Amino acid sequence: MTERSVKKSQTVDVAPEEGGKPAKLNGLLALTEAAMAGGGPERIKAQKDKNKFTARERIHYLLDEGSFQELDLLIKCQAKDFGLKDKSIPGDGVVTGFGRVNGREVCIYAQDFTVLGGSLGLAHAMKIAKIMDLGHDNRTPVVGLLDSGGARIEEGVDSLDGYAHIFRRNVRCSGVVPQISVILGPCAGGAVYSPALTDFVFMVQGISQMFVTGPAVVKAATGEEVSFDGLGGPQAHAGKSGVCHFVAQSEPDVFRQVRELLSYLPQNRWERPPRVANPDPVRRSTPLLEMLCELDPKRPYRVHHVIWQIADEHKFFEVHASFARSIVVGFCRMGGDVVGVVANNPGHMAGALNIDSSDKAARFIRFLNAFNIPIVTLTDVPGYWPGVQQEHGGIIRHGAKILHAYAEATVPKITVILRKAYGGAYIAMSSKHLGSDVNFALPSAEIAVMGPAGATEILCKRELAAAKTPEDRAALAAKLAQDYSNRFANPYQTASTGSIDEVIEPSQMRMKIIRALRFLKDKRAPGQHVNRGNIPL
Ligand code: HXC
Repeated sequence: MTERSVKKSQTVDVAPEEGGKPAKLNGLLALTEAAMAGGGPERIKAQKDKNKFTARERIHYLLDEGSFQELDLLIKCQAKDFGLKDKSIPGDGVVTGFGRVNGREVCIYAQDFTVLGGSLGLAHAMKIAKIMDLGHDNRTPVVGLLDSGGARIEEGVDSLDGYAHIFRRNVRCSGVVPQISVILGPCAGGAVYSPALTDFVFMVQGISQMFVTGPAVVKAATGEEVSFDGLGGPQAHAGKSGVCHFVAQSEPDVFRQVRELLSYLPQNRWERPPRVANPDPVRRSTPLLEMLCELDPKRPYRVHHVIWQIADEHKFFEVHASFARSIVVGFCRMGGDVVGVVANNPGHMAGALNIDSSDKAARFIRFLNAFNIPIVTLTDVPGYWPGVQQEHGGIIRHGAKILHAYAEATVPKITVILRKAYGGAYIAMSSKHLGSDVNFALPSAEIAVMGPAGATEILCKRELAAAKTPEDRAALAAKLAQDYSNRFANPYQTASTGSIDEVIEPSQMRMKIIRALRFLKDKRAPGQHVNRGNIPL
């Protein structure tokens, strides 16, 4: 703390200074300087020792140079118990305001861990609530930089009520303006639920933690021993729980990523994402994708290779990259326009849908629909992942979320079936009659109720049972499966019924999608203007 720090009870000397600035101006400067000092040099040093930036440095890194307008710098904590009345609590432990990212307005708050551990009291909460209201009413994204010990214990239920004010606003803003949470320190107890209500959560390796109850409580309650990082670090939440969408290696890295994410998003639900000049030719052919027609149907591949081929300048901004990897979701531009990509990934679990991948895809689809972002679906799915654990875990309930999300979405929807599209998973992956606008298939597509082996085992049970030797049975099964394959495991049966609009050459995939996107640009659909909150799934 500097010598100029202001204790709550301290008054500011407004007497004129000889030869100096007017006394009233000096008063403002003194108050401002004290408030800007945060928790003072010692606590700032402790923050740095943990490899962490201060709240103001974070805002400086994230926003365009010189664009920050701070609000409520001089707010004061009204609580008096447990010695609070004698403590200096600059800004009540949070810096709030608005500024610009890539020239576009955002509302922002940054909790200041150097002030009472960034703990949330009522004044702190109401500062955040005020900036969220401004974001909502002025239709600008809200970005939260969280670094806090949670509810300020000294303020009792007032601090819990403070969280309730924030949660309510998170829900009010949901589907109206994009909300982003960046976890830059501890985020404990019920405090984790504000990030969980926002659209995207970032964490930073080595400094971010999120948990409802810490390791000590876990040990007392269940006997499990776990470190802070093992319980609630970035790996746990990016790879296992799915709470975290993006992991950064450092604070500068996280702010670069947040800026990039914002470049793909509209400001609010009434706008579209910004178009950018596109140096990548729309008619660029994608001959590499012909390898899909040569590939053994059982052979895995990472669907990222397909996405990189069709995206402008081969750029793909993946969301939830480490979670539920049998499905890949993220943003790219095609012909200069932002699209959201949802793609089965045969490189992981053969691309099958399971509980987590259903939740991951459904929430992303709902986000895209809320914010006017067209959906490009790439299908290569053998079905839903079988097993008792999946059934008892609720694959029926979770799998239904994808169906609901796609059927509900009114934004332009384009689907390309790359290879497998079997059973219920074929329907779920934005099939024609679920409401997709334009559906393509490559010649490598296999679209059927079941895979050939499984189908012939059921259809030709008696014929197979009549085989004299196991060898005869195997040969017959192979022949029947091949017959089935020739008949059903191709795109032509489906194209003949209109469930596929065109079977396209792989080299034309990029241009076909962009052509369809441009046609669908002014799509009008019933229910299109309804506000849909992005409920956590
Ligand atoms: C008041 C707090 C605080 C809190 C930290 N501080 N958390 N003050 N309320 N919740 C203060 C500390 O007293 C200390 O003040 C300063 O912040 C820095 O904290 P340290 O403990 O010295 O820092 P560190 O060692 O880095 O540990 C950080 C920490 C730890 C892991 C976050 O402070 C901690 O465990 N805090 C409590 C976390 C927690 O259980 N929160 C949940 C509260 S319940 P001095 O003056 O000594 O420097 C909750 C429910 C919300 O949040 C429900 C919402 C619906």
